[in-house]
Amino acid sequence: MISHQNIVVTGASSGIGKSIMDQLVGQEGNRILAVCRRAYRITGYGDNVIPFSADLSTREGVDALFAKAEEVFDGPIDLYFCNAGAPYYERFDYEDWDRIAKLFDLNTVSHIYTYSKYLHHLNGRKGRLVYTISAMGEMALPGYALYAATKFAMKGFQQAIRDETPENLSISCVYPVSTKTNFFNVGSGGRKIQPPFPVQMPETVGKAVVKGVEKLKEHIYPCAVFLPSKYLMKVVPPVKAMYVKAQQSKLHRFVKRLKAEEAGLIEDIKLKHTIK
Ligand SMILES: NC(=O)c1ccc[n+]([C@@H]2O[C@H](COP(=O)([O-])OP(=O)(O)OC[C@H]3O[C@@H](n4cnc5c(N)ncnc54)[C@H](OP(=O)(O)O)[C@@H]3O)[C@@H](O)[C@H]2O)c1
Repeated sequence: MISHQNIVVTGASSGIGKSIMDQLVGQEGNRILAVCRRAYRITGYGDNVIPFSADLSTREGVDALFAKAEEVFDGPIDLYFCNAGAPYYERFDYEDWDRIAKLFDLNTVSHIYTYSKYLHHLNGRKGRLVYTISAMGEMALPGYALYAATKFAMKGFQQAIRDETPENLSISCVYPVSTKTNFFNVGSGGRKIQPPFPVQMPETVGKAVVKGVEKLKEHIYPCAVFLPSKYLMKVVPPVKAMYVKAQQSKLHRFVKRLKAEEAGLIEDIKLKHTIK
């Protein structure tokens, strides 16, 4: 059981981060620094949850988080859930350096920078860093090229850094499949899209993450069928071809919709959420 711990959860206002926090908040003695940009959305908890607003796609945001942790915790951060992230759902066919960099800043640069900050913060004391990567950090799909690239980068980073990391810091990585959160809404600019199959509830993912961390697992797969399916697709390529084709059709419909919006044939849905 995870109790009497100083915990950071990023992306705590919604989805997977919120469900991780909900698992931990009731355990005796836990104090949670709950971070996202709109921390006013983190409500209904007691004094042991400290909401904090920071844009974690910036160095200033991550630095501010650590300064806040040092201010509010009586001791080191024992557990750090590095979870905040977002996708783009799109056909990747544009030349826009800033748009590319924006997603990498949030999903990759920030998470890598956090590793070093956390290591220095610990200064030899014990800690665990839990990265929310993605099933798409192992299997990329059409419509998510850039997003998958940010997550594959994290898969590579954790693989190498494990063999450099001093013994006081351990790392767990989580690979959720599609999860019913704001994620797809954010990625599609508020349009309705069909997530890749299968789809899990955030509560299932939150429970699996906390259970995995309790067991000190290095890699946590909240969906039991993901690894067998990945293997099946490797040994029976037509299964993968069928699965990918379904994702291509979804992307094709999405692109068609965007074109119809541009042409004024259907209502343009304004972006409800932005990455920055
Ligand atoms: N849902 C899925 O299908 C799925 C599958 C695999 C992996 N994941 C990963 O799971 C993680 C959580 O996603 P989710 O599905 O729970 O999505 P979500 O419901 O959209 O939650 C994202 C959280 O991150 C915060 N956030 C976004 N941009 C931020 C920024 N610049 N600085 C600080 N906080 C920021 C959001 O709050 P604010 O907007 O207020 O900042 C929110 O609390 C992500 O890393 C995602 O890549 C998701």
